[in-house]
Order: sequence, then structure tokens, then C-alpha cells
Amino acid sequence: MKILVTGGAGFIGSHVAEKFIALGHEVVILDNLSTGAEDNIPPGAVFVEGDITSSSTVTDLFGRKRFDVVVHHAAQMNVRHSVEQPVFDAQVNILGTLNLLQEAVHTGVGKFMFASTGGAVYGEQEYFPADEQHPTNPVSPYGISKLACEKYLSYYQIQFDLKTVIMRYANVYGPRQNPHGEAGVVAIFADKLVRGEPVIVNGDGLQTRDYVYVGDVVAANALALEHDSHLTFNVGTGIETDVVTLYRHLAQAAGTDLQPKHGPAKAGEQRRSVISPKWGGKRLGWTPEVTLKEGLDRTFRSFV
Ligand SMILES: NC(=O)c1ccc[n+]([C@@H]2O[C@H](COP(=O)([O-])OP(=O)(O)OC[C@H]3O[C@@H](n4cnc5c(N)ncnc54)[C@H](O)[C@@H]3O)[C@@H](O)[C@H]2O)c1
Repeated sequence: MKILVTGGAGFIGSHVAEKFIALGHEVVILDNLSTGAEDNIPPGAVFVEGDITSSSTVTDLFGRKRFDVVVHHAAQMNVRHSVEQPVFDAQVNILGTLNLLQEAVHTGVGKFMFASTGGAVYGEQEYFPADEQHPTNPVSPYGISKLACEKYLSYYQIQFDLKTVIMRYANVYGPRQNPHGEAGVVAIFADKLVRGEPVIVNGDGLQTRDYVYVGDVVAANALALEHDSHLTFNVGTGIETDVVTLYRHLAQAAGTDLQPKHGPAKAGEQRRSVISPKWGGKRLGWTPEVTLKEGLDRTFRSFV
């Protein structure tokens, strides 16, 4: 198949693109390199440097290439930036996605897969872990823009019969995650530990997240690519881990007994987040296989 991977120079998109190439597909990457890097682009992919918010770029690319599938990972994905710059967040995440959806239906794309977020679309959870039926009450512009995209996908599915796949990722970690900026606590901690610098934990460090290894996320993408119906499913582990425990595992991988420092808690940060992988297990045969300890070991080794 001919597949467009947007955001394929970034962390998750580059792993997904690599897998699709290994499966024998033709992969084109569209990325503006705002947080991604050319070094991440897997051999065999055709790289187009460009912005999903530019309708002329998107129209030109879709007209030339005629994709079978779009796998959309390009995004403004920093929750705090979305709070500071909600207009920019909406421009990239909502209008950029609409550009792609419009061209997808104009050029006969068969399937559109979208990287959404289980952490942000559910908001403060009413029960744990959240399944796909959990109410969606995002508390950040980022969560709102991702949920808006989910609704647009559903509209394009009903109106234009576009096959859609919505993957609600938990906190994804692994090799190639960018440690600069404020997203990606595993990458930030691993980078600090490699440099022998002290790690700062926000607040008491007892806030929890669901950490899923990027290899498992790639496996979910590969299964969803082959699946023949519309899907909305969580890509998480169902396991809640607090930041102090996460640090302890990483420090162990680094062979250090350096203690973390505690900084002020971040205002508005969600306290607990964990999503259930059961639906994906039942419908797709997908289950996360890499334990947190193994995943953190692999991630730490990739930062050395
Ligand atoms: N990392 C996580 O824990 C996580 C969790 C939930 C959802 N997601 C979603 O998964 C996707 C990938 O996230 P990631 O962690 O790999 O982030 P990333 O920042 O590494 O990747 C995003 C990529 O998109 C590119 N990009 C950004 N704006 C663009 C634009 N306007 N035009 C073209 N390219 C653009 C960036 O250069 C980068 O390469 C995002 O949609 C994100 O919202 C990630």
C-alpha cells in the first residue's frame, strides 16, 4: 500500500513508518521538522518537508501521490503550549487535520488513522482504568483539539464513507523521544541521568500515568492498518505508575542511587490517568507486551 505518515520525523511516527516499510509498504513522510528530526526518518521512506496547515502543500502532495492510507501523527502535542497558545494548537491540530481529511476524500484515500490521546480526551477520570465508553471531558486545549479531530473523523466517515481509525494513546515512551521541552517524562529523566544531572520531579511525584512502550504502539498501528472496520480504541496498558516509581526504575537501569529533587507541582496537572487496553485486545488481538521495566531498560540504553 502507499501510505502517508504525517509526523514521521517525530518520535512515534518514525517508528510506525519504519514498521510499515519493513512490512513492504511504500511510505511517504510529511513533516515540518518543528519537533522532529531528519535523523529519525527511516531508510526507504520518501521525505517531504512541509506543513499540514498549508493547504497548497497538502493538496499538491495528495494530487501527486494518491495514497491508500493516511496515518496522521503530526501535531502540536505539548499540553502546556496548548494552554499558552490555544489558537496555534487549534491551527495545527484541528485545521491541519481538516486539510488532510479534505484531500483524503477528494483523492480517494481508503483509510485514515489518527493518533489521539487517552490521557487528555477523558480528562479527570470518573473510574480507573478508563475504557472507550468513559465520558470525554478534556481539560486542556490540546485535549479539546484532539477530541474535535475525533468528531471530524466520525463526520467524514459518515458523510464520505472514509474508513477511520482513532487510536487513543496513553503516555508513550521509548527510543527517539525528544527530551527537550516539557513533554515526555521518561525521555527527560533518561537524558538527565545519562548526563549525571539531578532530576526534578514536579510536586510529590505521586501523580500517575499509564506508560506504554513505543514498540507496542507500533504493533497496534500495524494491526489497525489491516483491520477492515472503523475503530476507536485505547492504546495503553491499564497499569498506573507514579512518577517516583518511574524514576526508581530508570535510576536502576542507569545504575545510580542519585535521589530526585522535588519542584513545585504544576498547576492544573491531572492527578491520575490510566486507560484500559481490553477492547483492543478483544477486537484487534492487540495487547501491550513490553513490561515497564524492560521498556525503560531499552529506552535508557538508547539514550547512552
Ligand atoms: N508521545 C505521547 O505520549 C503521545 C500520547 C498521546 C498522543 N500522542 C500523539 O501522537 C502523535 C505523535 O507524537 P510524538 O510523541 O511522536 O511527538 P513528536 O513531536 O515527536 O512528533 C510530532 C511530529 O509532527 C511534526 N509536526 C508538528 N507540527 C507539524 C505541522 N504543522 N506540519 C507537519 N509536521 C508537523 C513534528 O516535527 C514531529 O516530527 C501526536 O499526534 C501526539 O499528539 C502522543
